[in-house]
Amino acid sequence: MSSTIVIKTVEEIASIRSAGRLLAQVHEALREEVRPGITTGELNRIADRLIRDGGGIPTSYNYGDPPFPASICTSIDDEVVHGIPADDRVLEEGQIITLDITVGLEGWQADAARTWPVGEISEEKRKLIVAAETAFNAGLAEALEGQRVGDIAHAVQRSAEGEGYGVIRELCGHGIGREMHEAPEVPNYGRPGRGPRLRSGMVFCIEPMITAGKRHIALKDDEWTIVTQDGRPAAHYENTIAITPTGPEILTLL
Ligand code: MF3
Ligand code: CO
Ligand code: CO
Repeated sequence: MSSTIVIKTVEEIASIRSAGRLLAQVHEALREEVRPGITTGELNRIADRLIRDGGGIPTSYNYGDPPFPASICTSIDDEVVHGIPADDRVLEEGQIITLDITVGLEGWQADAARTWPVGEISEEKRKLIVAAETAFNAGLAEALEGQRVGDIAHAVQRSAEGEGYGVIRELCGHGIGREMHEAPEVPNYGRPGRGPRLRSGMVFCIEPMITAGKRHIALKDDEWTIVTQDGRPAAHYENTIAITPTGPEILTLL
């Protein structure tokens, strides 16, 4: 990945906003579909159809090496990210599922993840889901022109660890634009005052991945699915944001 941070024009940010709007609509639709009995394969098909009907492309399909074999990532309970949808994977009451979706529209990418409850869930899981969003918002509050990436990273870490959660370190947020993954890396831990300075026109994803137990992860034999080593559940909350002169704008909310 190039280390050059590509600054986007107001028009280019509008294009990413359009991709982000379609993506947000897909998330809202899938939220209604998540329930006991549905398979992750079916969720994948619904998402694929909604993205393509909206004129978009599910950028995750065929991404990477080995090529990711589905249109969205579906990660259940101890699966942190990059879970592969399957027709024999049936959602069960009490689980939590992270849907991580990247949409390309007219050559511009937007990326967002949500963790949803499947039916009634434990208080532990409910609090975990809330804490991921809270950590995102702590990072977002630092996403101001003149601040640095490390200020965001530190705020995310402080929020999540302050509530007793583990923070995944091996995976980061990232710049986004023409490509799904661009510079800069946006870690979920770090020191204030470090890293690239934030400038108007930067567009990147803030995406805390947090765990109810220890922060350590493992890669499954499918070469994509990341799980917690201790088997405790994980949650993920991600939005694509733009740095503007008047503060951060979230591009993946309706
Ligand atoms: N959406 C993920 C991210 O937040 C990337 C998924 S790549 C895939 O960066 F190939 F697994 F889909
Ligand atoms: Co994502
Ligand atoms: Co991302």
